[in-house]
Order: sequence, then C-alpha cells, then structure tokens
Amino acid sequence: MSVIYLDNAATSWPKPPCVEQAMSRFLAHDAGNPGRAGHRMAIACERMLDRLRVQLSRLFDAPDPQRVIFTLNTTDAINIALKGVLRSGDHVVTTTLEHNSVSRPLQALADAGTITLTRVPATDDGFIAPADIAAAITPTTRLIACTHCSNVLGTIQPIDAIGALARDRGLLLLVDAAQSAGVLPISMRQMHIDLLAVAGHKSLLGPPGTGALLLSDRVDAAPWREGGTGGDSSHPVQPAEYPYRLEAGTPNTVGLAGWAAALEEIERIGPGNMLEHERKLAARFTDAFRGDDRVRLLGPDDPGRRTGIVVFTMESIAPQELAALLDESFGIAVRAGLHCAPYIHRQLGTFPDGAVRVSPGPYNTVRDIDLLIDAVRLIRDQSEFVS
Ligand code: ALA
Repeated sequence: MSVIYLDNAATSWPKPPCVEQAMSRFLAHDAGNPGRAGHRMAIACERMLDRLRVQLSRLFDAPDPQRVIFTLNTTDAINIALKGVLRSGDHVVTTTLEHNSVSRPLQALADAGTITLTRVPATDDGFIAPADIAAAITPTTRLIACTHCSNVLGTIQPIDAIGALARDRGLLLLVDAAQSAGVLPISMRQMHIDLLAVAGHKSLLGPPGTGALLLSDRVDAAPWREGGTGGDSSHPVQPAEYPYRLEAGTPNTVGLAGWAAALEEIERIGPGNMLEHERKLAARFTDAFRGDDRVRLLGPDDPGRRTGIVVFTMESIAPQELAALLDESFGIAVRAGLHCAPYIHRQLGTFPDGAVRVSPGPYNTVRDIDLLIDAVRLIRDQSEFVS
C-alpha cells in the first residue's frame, strides 16, 4: 500500500528530488572535511557550507553569515543557545506552548538551581499574549524563550510584539522556529530575535540531521561542547570566532549539501505559496468536520492565525488507536499523542492521551485529504457502533 504522508510537522516527506541528487553528487565528488585540509575536496565542502550560511542569513534577515551555526536539528540549536547564554541567577520567561526541546533544558537548568523560570500560559485558543510575558518579567530576567508556531495547534505567535518588548526591556529573545521556518516570513532584525533555532528537515525540506542556530550581534554564547574545528589547531581551547566557536567536530556535510538544494526548491515554490497550499488542505479537513459533535477540532477557527496543522480528538476512540487504524487500514500517516508538548495538552484538557495531528506538506493533494476525511468518517461511525 502506498503511503499518504500527513506528518510533515514531524519531518517533511517526500523531499524534493533535488535534495537526494545533491546529496549523492556531493558524496560522490566533494565530501572532504571542511577546514581540515587544503585539498580541493575540503575546499569544495567549505565553499558549500559558506554558501549555505549566506542563503540562511538572507532567508532570515540575519546580520552576519558567520553567526549561522550548523546543528543537528532544532533541539541541538536550542541546547547550544540556552547552555551557552544563560548564567547562574538568570530568570527566563517561557510559555506553555513550548516543545520539550525548550521546556526540558530550561526545566533541567531550573532544577539544578542555575536559573529561575516562569512559564506563561497560552490563551485558551493557543496564543501567547505579549502583556502576559511583560507581567512575568522580573529584575533578573535575561531571556524570553518562545515558539514562533505551536507544533500542536499551528497557532502563530506575535513574535514582532514579543521582540519589541524584549528589546525595550534589554532582554534576549530566543525563538524556536522549528514549525515556522520555510512557511512563515522571519526577519531576525525586524522581529528583534537574538537566537533563532531552525530545523532543516521540516518546512525547509532538507534531510534529517540538519538545523541551524542563528545569532544576532547582540548576543554571545559560550561553547557548550568543544573539539576540532580545523583552521588553527594550536589553541588549547575553542576559538573565539564564529562559527567555529560553537561548531566542533565534523559536520553533517552530506545533509547540509541536501539542505542547500532544498532551499533553492523553496525559493522556486515560494514560502507564501506553501503556506497557502497547506492552509487550503487543512481547511478542507476542518470544513468536513466543523459542527460534528463527535469530532472535537482543537485551536482557533480563523485559518489566518495558524499554519496548515489540524489537530482533533474523538470521544469514541483514543488518539493512538485512531492513528494506528489510519496507518494500518488506510495507509495514512499522522501523529497522535502529546507531540512532545505536554504543557499545552494539559491546558487543552487532552493530557495524557493527547490528540491526532494532521500536517500536510507542499506535495500533498486535495485527494489525500479527501481520502483522510473518508477514513476518519468511517472510523468515527464504526467506533461509535463498537463503543
Ligand atoms: N517536533 C516534532 C513534532 O512536532 C517532532 O512532531
């Protein structure tokens, strides 16, 4: 059975063909170790990485390509940011919308007594009010850590206003853009973002094992891990210059070559077109079930305030069971459960079972959604009969 893949919020699939082609080509010809030697393959690799830093800094209107740090994924970027920036005694304001990639490292730092933490609750429909962030700021607050887009509800957060607030109060702003990079416009300069964490493998259409942390020129991060950087190996400690300060060890060069190709594909599709397409597919699903009291659609009705994610529950069947049925009987891949974001599920009243999340991508079609709608209707009717 072929798969109808509707789990693009976890990782996008399929990747554009140019990604695989670029990775194979790179592996066959250019896969030297960047900065570790002067031969042509090492130099070709270094050039590819330099170009990608420029591509990313342009896409996110970042001040300096040298401050684009390659990471394994968003979690890696967030850990490098938090552990490199926070100091003993700092207070951090974060939110209940956060993924565990933000919540867990912050909680661990708080449990260790290094920082204090305030978790601002989202509104009932899944938004963070800048006034609530402002009210949580204390004299020791140093950082605001906030998602750009909830990975559970797809709700788009007012980062412009939160950034203006952070700048006004002299605070640093870390934004988790795992779910927004590629579909929503992001300007580090205009939004006053100091630390931007992105995934290469979601809406930026690159392969797994790619991500980046982009730093503004207002922030310095201490290395969270140290090691070989190529270049000047004589220093007993990590070099102070970016990006080497925060990059140690051989990077995922093959994945990054694929990511660079994916970014060209995104420019071709146009991020705005991707968003519109995914929203249209999401709306087709929600329109089919709006008013159906056996299917609870979560999050706000206004599609303009969210990306193309749909999340729902059914009284008659547990989310994990529903997702397993969709997979096994209909070949439809969705994600059920808590989506690594337990705090917002508690607020929504869907803890501990969670909900079913449907996340279309640029290559899904109206037919994919229609097949999903038919499958959900069938499961709804049969599970009611059984229960
Ligand atoms: N953070 C990813 C998700 O939301 C894995 O599914």
